[in-house]
Amino acid sequence: MLAQTLLPARPFLKWAGGKAQLIPQMEPFFPKDFRTYFEPFLGGGAVFFHLQPEKAMLSDSNPELVNTFTIVRDDPGGLMRALDEHLPQRTEEAYFYKVRATDPSTLSSVERAARTIFLNKTCFNGLYRVNSDGNFNVPWGGYKNPTLYDRENLPATSALLRGKNIVLADYQKVCARVKIGDFVYLDPPYHPLSETSKFTSYTKEDFGNREQRKLAETYRRLDKRGVLVMLSNSATPLVKTLYDGFRIEALKAKRAINSKGTARGAIDELLVMNYG
Ligand SMILES: C[S@@+](CC[C@H](N)C(=O)[O-])C[C@H]1O[C@@H](n2cnc3c(N)ncnc32)[C@H](O)[C@@H]1O
Repeated sequence: MLAQTLLPARPFLKWAGGKAQLIPQMEPFFPKDFRTYFEPFLGGGAVFFHLQPEKAMLSDSNPELVNTFTIVRDDPGGLMRALDEHLPQRTEEAYFYKVRATDPSTLSSVERAARTIFLNKTCFNGLYRVNSDGNFNVPWGGYKNPTLYDRENLPATSALLRGKNIVLADYQKVCARVKIGDFVYLDPPYHPLSETSKFTSYTKEDFGNREQRKLAETYRRLDKRGVLVMLSNSATPLVKTLYDGFRIEALKAKRAINSKGTARGAIDELLVMNYG
């Protein structure tokens, strides 16, 4: 059952690998009916915003991202006030690096969420990348007039998130809780098309071939349990082998596949489903 809502809630973060532009191509493949919706690689949550499900478990292993979604749900007013404090300096390079250098553990949860949104909207291309110590290290984007948030969308998003579970967890832990009739959308860090196209490391832990194989095992376990599962990934030979036997559809994705913005163009990306 999809929630009936007139609120125009839409993603409030720019997220590398975000699915917003692919939604029209994905639309025919979403299941019509399901119990709880699970998005264990949440990122910007484009599919969640599109489906607007009544019951949802949203999770990610990025603590700053999960804190941000939680604060949007629980304290949108406080968050907007904290963001307004960043507003006058949003075009200053030195200010960006000062905020980037601030240790999030020294901030309140609301200030931490404001820092994450500020960095997301003013850094290069909205990328999220951390170094081996887990510190955000994307450079300044140099935008002339970046918007930090939308005064109507943030409260609308807060309303949409009300009553939804938002959890900091590895996808495997969350997938162990999924039950028959639930719908899981898996959007992992993509298997790189080539070694040089690895453009982001979202978290301290890299998502290499071993993790791709483990994820495919999780997919098969969910399938056996009577769960509806959809997965996005790049069209590489490994991905095609790992999901052999399931329904695979190719989508055309226009994206920058490296951080210099070269090699932009339509590339195939896959949607793997265990239903329909
Ligand atoms: C491709 S992005 C998801 C993009 C999202 N679907 C969107 O539309 O914006 C992948 C996400 O997976 C998260 N992630 C990486 N490894 C993870 C893990 N082991 N468990 C849970 N989340 C993980 C990253 O923090 C990142 O937010």
